[in-house]
Amino acid sequence: MTAPSQLPPGEGPSPAENRPAGQFSLLIVDDEPLLLSSMRRIFHEAPYEIFCAGNGQDALKILEKARIDAALIDLRMPGLSGMDLLRQIRARYPKIMSMMITGHGGVPEAVEALKLGALDFLEKPFSLEGLQNRVAEMHRMWLEDRKKQADEKDDFSCILERRLIGKSVPMQRLKDMILRVAPGCDNILIYGETGTGKELVARAIHQLSPRRDQPFIPVDCASLSQTVMESELFGHTRGAFTGAHSAAQGLIRASDKGTLFLDEVGELSLGMQAKFLRTIQEKEVRPVGSTRSFPVDLRLVAATNRVLSQEVAQGRFREDLLYRLDVITLQVPPLRERGEDISLLADYFLTRFRQGRTPAPRLTDRAREALEQYYWPGNVRELENIIRRMVALGTGQTLDLEDLPEYLKEIKDIGPVPLPPAGGRAGGTLAAQEKTAIENALRRTEGNRRKSAEILGISEATLYRKIRLYGLHRPEGER
Ligand SMILES: Nc1ncnc2c1ncn2[C@@H]1O[C@H](COP(=O)(O)OP(=O)(O)OP(=O)(O)O)[C@@H](O)[C@H]1O
Ligand SMILES: [Mg+2]
Repeated sequence: MTAPSQLPPGEGPSPAENRPAGQFSLLIVDDEPLLLSSMRRIFHEAPYEIFCAGNGQDALKILEKARIDAALIDLRMPGLSGMDLLRQIRARYPKIMSMMITGHGGVPEAVEALKLGALDFLEKPFSLEGLQNRVAEMHRMWLEDRKKQADEKDDFSCILERRLIGKSVPMQRLKDMILRVAPGCDNILIYGETGTGKELVARAIHQLSPRRDQPFIPVDCASLSQTVMESELFGHTRGAFTGAHSAAQGLIRASDKGTLFLDEVGELSLGMQAKFLRTIQEKEVRPVGSTRSFPVDLRLVAATNRVLSQEVAQGRFREDLLYRLDVITLQVPPLRERGEDISLLADYFLTRFRQGRTPAPRLTDRAREALEQYYWPGNVRELENIIRRMVALGTGQTLDLEDLPEYLKEIKDIGPVPLPPAGGRAGGTLAAQEKTAIENALRRTEGNRRKSAEILGISEATLYRKIRLYGLHRPEGER
């Protein structure tokens, strides 16, 4: 018997998005119109949203438009059978719980359906109570699942709050974004000045993703020399080059099913970029010296303090690789744009570095003020280094102005260093701000690179590289 669906195809009481939030939705598929209308009556009072379809095709149309949580499916229907519909649901909407309805003698088929992933079956004629109990059971499972998801989300927010300190608006915005994008598998590009916490953000993304139990592999594209980079990343066979006494799988394969963090990705050579692009596109790696490729399941999180669109314009970065990397872009704000986090971070580091002192040493108001006025060219890392040193050198319970490094004490007298021109972190200003930060540090230390590197919280080697990159001249009196 063929019957028109009780609802025109694709039409439910309301489209999924407009449904009251959190309501359980049940799709009933049966070619007997009487059964459909009595089901509708039965569940009229229940806190469920009911969708009905008189055949498999109409059911598929509803599934395309509405978010369905569970389905009750008659096994024997003309056209697309209940079993075929179940197969499609399992393949396309695996989260939907399905329960089969079978006529007299249909048990072997129903057992088949269980193997395909149906939760249970009801044999016709069934009692009203039996039907209500089964649907209530699916509803209960659905509620439990939602609660679990909500708990996980709370746990995740806690991880983020505990590890990524900051309550300022830009940090809250960043954390919201992280919570939203981490569970997916899109590649992510993190922009931010030196020491702002890009690697911390990358680690948080990994921790909050379904890949958290697999490896997080950081690769510093700036510090690896280009000659060893290829074999470090892609691996090599035994004897692939002089000194390759044994085979190595390489960092890319080591991060299979986990997260590969490409730090300072703008430093990759064009040759390496091409190889990388191939790996991303083909989802496989060919070790140096090998004729064989190995499949990899990668999630890439890359970080840079260069403006990659500019690097593309100048022919230093492949546009096609950039498209692959910045599916999602995150900006980590510099510390000077989140002044209210300075005190919070200082207290956090005081507790972390207290070395068994209870309670942790405290900052005086004057010292706190000086920290808040400073321009923080080296961002959080600079603050972290300063507090670490103050705690190590200070003996008392309070840390005052005199415990601060010289250049910070000066601020109380000369006032904060002027900020570089406004214009946001987009466009060319990120590099410009970094350049200004380096210039400021060099000026402040009268060109002393060791001290400047310390202020900026970066290694001297990185500072040298950046001085070359930005073509900064030696200020007079440089030591
Ligand atoms: N919001 C934060 N909360 C707590 N610690 C932070 C925060 N941001 C940064 N840090 C700490 O500051 C230091 C520098 O952070 P990280 O290495 O992630 O910065 P980065 O942006 O990757 O730096 P670089 O550009 O030099 O690679 C780390 O020790 C990190 O733990
Ligand atoms: Mg880093």
